[in-house]
Amino acid sequence: MIAQRSYAVEPWTVRETSLNLDVLSQSESVFALSNGHVGWRGNLDEGEPHGLPGSYLNGVHEVHPLPYAEAGYGYPESGQTVINVTNGKVLRLLVDDEPFDPRYGRLVSHERTLDLRRGVLTRVCEWTSPAGTTVRVRSTRLVSLTQRAVAAVAYEVEPVGRPARVVIQSELVANESLPDPDGDPRQARVLKSPLEPEEHFAAGHRLRLVHRTRHSGLRVAVAADHVVTGPERTTTSSESNVDVARLTVTSVLEPGQRLRVEKLVGHGWSANRSRPAMSDQAEAALAAAAHSGWPGLLAEQRAYLDDFWARADVEVDGDEEIQQAVRFALFHVLQAGARAEGRAIPAKGLTGSGYDGHAFWDTETFVLPLLTYISPDAVAEALRWRQSTLPAARERAAQLGLRGAAFPWRTIEGSEGSAYWPAGTAAFHVNADIADAVTRYVTATGDTDFARDTGVELLVETARLWRSLGHHDHHGVFHINGVTGPDEYSAIADDNTYTNLMARENLLAAADAVERYPEQAARLGADDEESAAWRDAARAVHLPYNAELGVHEQHAGFTRYQRWDFEGTRPEQYPLMLHFPYFDLYRKQVVKQADLVLAMYTCHTHFDEEHIARNFAYYEPLTVRDSSLSACVQAVVAAQAGHLRLAHDYTAEAALMDLEDLEHNTRDGLHIASLAGTWLALVAGFGGMRREGGTLRFAPRLPEKISRLAFTLQLLDRRLHVEIAPDKATYTLLSGGPLTLHHHGTPVTVRPDDPAVRDVPSPAYRPAPEQPPHRTPTVR
Ligand code: BGC
Repeated sequence: MIAQRSYAVEPWTVRETSLNLDVLSQSESVFALSNGHVGWRGNLDEGEPHGLPGSYLNGVHEVHPLPYAEAGYGYPESGQTVINVTNGKVLRLLVDDEPFDPRYGRLVSHERTLDLRRGVLTRVCEWTSPAGTTVRVRSTRLVSLTQRAVAAVAYEVEPVGRPARVVIQSELVANESLPDPDGDPRQARVLKSPLEPEEHFAAGHRLRLVHRTRHSGLRVAVAADHVVTGPERTTTSSESNVDVARLTVTSVLEPGQRLRVEKLVGHGWSANRSRPAMSDQAEAALAAAAHSGWPGLLAEQRAYLDDFWARADVEVDGDEEIQQAVRFALFHVLQAGARAEGRAIPAKGLTGSGYDGHAFWDTETFVLPLLTYISPDAVAEALRWRQSTLPAARERAAQLGLRGAAFPWRTIEGSEGSAYWPAGTAAFHVNADIADAVTRYVTATGDTDFARDTGVELLVETARLWRSLGHHDHHGVFHINGVTGPDEYSAIADDNTYTNLMARENLLAAADAVERYPEQAARLGADDEESAAWRDAARAVHLPYNAELGVHEQHAGFTRYQRWDFEGTRPEQYPLMLHFPYFDLYRKQVVKQADLVLAMYTCHTHFDEEHIARNFAYYEPLTVRDSSLSACVQAVVAAQAGHLRLAHDYTAEAALMDLEDLEHNTRDGLHIASLAGTWLALVAGFGGMRREGGTLRFAPRLPEKISRLAFTLQLLDRRLHVEIAPDKATYTLLSGGPLTLHHHGTPVTVRPDDPAVRDVPSPAYRPAPEQPPHRTPTVR
């Protein structure tokens, strides 16, 4: 994997000191701003040049027919794709007679900074036009974390050396032309100009456009207002047509004079509300933003983030790159989930259109664990979104001849969007991942309202799915056959260990919930008899094991498959799915991403230390990490098995996935799960944090090159700070009453004003396992 470092290594910022058009799309993702509701890619203010223009409203999508060469029962008929909504971030600039464009004239300097504490993207550049006029441009952009429908830009121009006639065109642009998407031409057709105009308006400094998507019927309204400051004789005019609304600001500036435009943008969308209602909604968002004003929006953003960092910051001494990357990761995970409120958290957040804007199991397995301990409200919202999609999930289960709910493998609005069964609906584990997220959230917060109103329903309906998908054999053993686990290089397999163990937890959690909330259970038609059947299945679940090798099997029979010819696979043949047929991957021992290794983390109580070490050593040489979801999990388990150096390498891989574009696809959007995985690698890896019932266990141990690691967790209305040094760990309660946790297997009660300090034991020595040839992670 080739590393490409485009950003300065600094603790609280991500800074690009020159404009490299070759990596423009990547930096648009890295510099994306979002609050989970509105998403603006880091496109240049002037709109061009661009890699991939991106302006999103979470949930706004278009539907398109899914292509099948051969039809089959139960194949989803239509897919969903995120689309660009009206772009409110464009501010075009004309200097004398020439449009500001870094591809022409001379770009003297260009610097962009994502400030993780202020929550803004700033830009300072100096450009000399082909005719020789030089201007300095400064802009600051934010997507408000406090006012979820609002984004804003402050844009300022100043001539250098000689006067300049300057025109700024602040625009709302709908149906922007996009680079041609690869793949299905029918989809490309649908996505070209997906918005049908309904209303356009421009008067004074105010602009508004209302559109509706053609097939999904979603109405989108975007409105803007401006504050213009410039020398005397600065003039403004505005106009609109169906797809563009524009405010034009003109001035002649002497050196030292500035023209400044503060642009506030309000958004709204709905499947049901009328055109006037949507116009009003966007205007109301604007009115609220104008009430705060630009300085107010900046101050609110800073205060919101001060509060966030006080409860979420992770400090890493000894590895500056990981320090920066984990803060970058936390910031983007916050952006993806903070204000999603009733919508999904997509795999790319709102940073790009990769994966068609779909949400996967990534959310529950990688993103929600982190949010549970730093922003638990966002977890409740994300799971309520799943609950809101239960009608579609029940319908899907019924269509498949199953009971309960079958949640989709990939979706925007709740229905299955995967056209490929083996790496789609067959990955039923997403249901147990959702159930696990419910249990994790409820045990970490004690939120009984949520447990009663949302938890029971999610647990019961997913447990029903497992009970109907699996069966007891004539010995009473419970099997779940023909499913796909996390590793997408094995498919439609019997008794995937991860799936079986997660289903087991799901069944038990549902049975407990029925006992605890009998009224809710009765409303769902669940009774003691049904929950007894769940407990029976859970107790009897099959765990395939190869006694000869002394290792757990990823799925029944896996260890008897032929080993993949790793020695004969050239480095450029990775990722394998793009160079070899799936049928061959499916029948060999080769692992795309942590699967059995993931089970050892999420269902750790089923594995003793010896098996964790042995299984890890067995699966490591088979795991090629063709998914970005792998490195962070391998980091967690490597640390537990005592391979601290390797865990450090994997942590860096997860952390730098996007800052170094390790998978060469950051242009399509950030890998939100891998970013969240950075936190998992540090907290669950080097912190050794595991959940056991309502208790947290820690088994901290640092790799040689990290001299200190500190993080904070929210737990049952308490704030716990954990600080790890090479030889000792300190647990401090920052707020709330006494808390009992475990440190390397021993209970420790931490009391207010009385930090608990414990020694860190050295790990047992084990020879480091090997990876497949060409797949060793970069050594730190
Ligand atoms: C992985 C899946 C993941 C998806 C979206 C795939 O490459 O194999 O596990 O859910 O990407 O991130």
